This record gives sequence, C-alpha cells and structure tokens, in this order.
Amino acid sequence: MIVCRSAAELDLMRDAGRLVGEVLTELAALVRPGVTTADLDEAAERRILAAGAVPAFKGYHGYPATICASINDEVIHGIPSGRRVLQAGDVISLDVGASLDGYFGDSAVTLPVGPVSEEAASLLRATEESLYKAIACVRPGGRVSDIGHAVQQHVEAFGFSVVREFVGHGIGQRMHEEPQIPNYGEPGHGPRLTEGMVLAIEPMVNAGKAAVKVLADGWTAVTRDGSLSAHFEHTVAVTSGEPWILTARTVPVAAKK
Ligand code: MF3
Ligand code: CO
Repeated sequence: MIVCRSAAELDLMRDAGRLVGEVLTELAALVRPGVTTADLDEAAERRILAAGAVPAFKGYHGYPATICASINDEVIHGIPSGRRVLQAGDVISLDVGASLDGYFGDSAVTLPVGPVSEEAASLLRATEESLYKAIACVRPGGRVSDIGHAVQQHVEAFGFSVVREFVGHGIGQRMHEEPQIPNYGEPGHGPRLTEGMVLAIEPMVNAGKAAVKVLADGWTAVTRDGSLSAHFEHTVAVTSGEPWILTARTVPVAAKK
C-alpha cells in the first residue's frame, strides 16, 4: 500500500527533511583532502542527535554507521572508516537519513574533493540534473515509471549508465516504503502518483557500464568495471502544484566549498 500523508504529516516530514538537508550542507563544508569518512560520520551523528533526531541508517539491517560515504567507483553504502582518507581528485557520495518525531528524511549528494577530472565533473552534473528532471515529473496523475524514464533519458545521452540493482522508494514513518522507484524504464507504467505521496528519488549513475557488485563487507556496492559512480537523492512530496523537495538545502552544498 502506498500511503498518502496529511498536511500535518507533511509538516513533520518537512522538519525531518530540513534537518537532513542541513546535515548534508554541514558535511559538504568539511569535505577536503585529508579528512576521513569516519570524521564525516561523527559530525553527522553529532548533528542529528543534537537535533533530537535518530540516525536512520545505523542499525538498519545491521548497517554500522550514520552515513554512507562512497568514494569513486563505490556506488552506494560505503561504510565510513578512519582509514578512508579523502584525496584531491576523488568524488564522494554522502548519503544521510534521519527520523525526527517518527518521520524520515533521506538525501544524498556526490561532491568533488578538490579539482576533479572533466569526466568526473560531467558525471556529477548529469546525475544531479537527472534528479531534478525526475522531480519535475512528480505530479498527481503521473506514474512512478515517469521518474526513472526521466533519469535514464538524461544520463544515457552523456554515455553514462543507470544502476539497475538499487532503486528509490516511498518514505514516511519508515525509511523504505512502497513504491519502489527504478531509475530506468518506459514512462506511463506503475502506480499513479497522487497528492500526499512522499518519494525518495535517488539516481545512481556510472560513468562506465551499469553492472555493480557488493564487496565482502556485505554493504559497499562498487562498479564492476571500476568506473566512477555518482548518487544524488531527495525526499519529495507530491502536491497539487509543484513538488515539494523536503530535503532542499537552503545553502547549495557546492557554494560552501
Ligand atoms: N539512502 C539509502 C537508501 O535509501 C541508504 C540506506 S543505507 C542503509 O536505501 F544502511 F540504511 F541501508
Ligand atoms: Co534512499
């Protein structure tokens, strides 16, 4: 069942989403060569707990940390570590989820560490653009597959590929709710979007081939061909008008660098 949220619930989801956006803005300002992914994880956990919220990922199916920090060929679910030191030229995806007063927010960005290759910059730009193209399809009467179609159309035009094994999702009083939202496919299929639905839309895009594998840690998904990967995510509500991006950041993360 796909749940539609009341106005009061959407207000609560806005609060959770705003916090997640603030955490990502704060983390983005810390990203630079020499910082470890454990440093970023600690900062995120501190900030979430100080807000009276709960890290959504920690303990989820045994996941050991507050954020996912996925570097270069890591697609998603990179586990923060004091031994993972950011280097100039890396790209790092930061994924943050939190629940506040029982409602969840979930958002991710991929950032350059210092100057990066032209290919990396283009991958990040195309993937972020694909997220906003997908969000532009979020309206009552639209269909879930319109979202993935928009992502796929946009990134494949650059020669990039969409990851198939992981999907976006409904979100609300649980982090993962129905429906599943693939990032590829033909438009006009799947559940119809209706006012009050809240969706976590999260394109995962590889510079090379689409195939991924999960490392022996049981979490980290990497590209099979070793190519770079990017991931952007927002929690978005369907309204009668423009979609609401609940995890919108008041300060664009790139502007803080
Ligand atoms: N944003 C991711 C998702 O929607 C993060 C989940 S990490 C996990 O699935 F550890 F919590 F699974
Ligand atoms: Co998600």
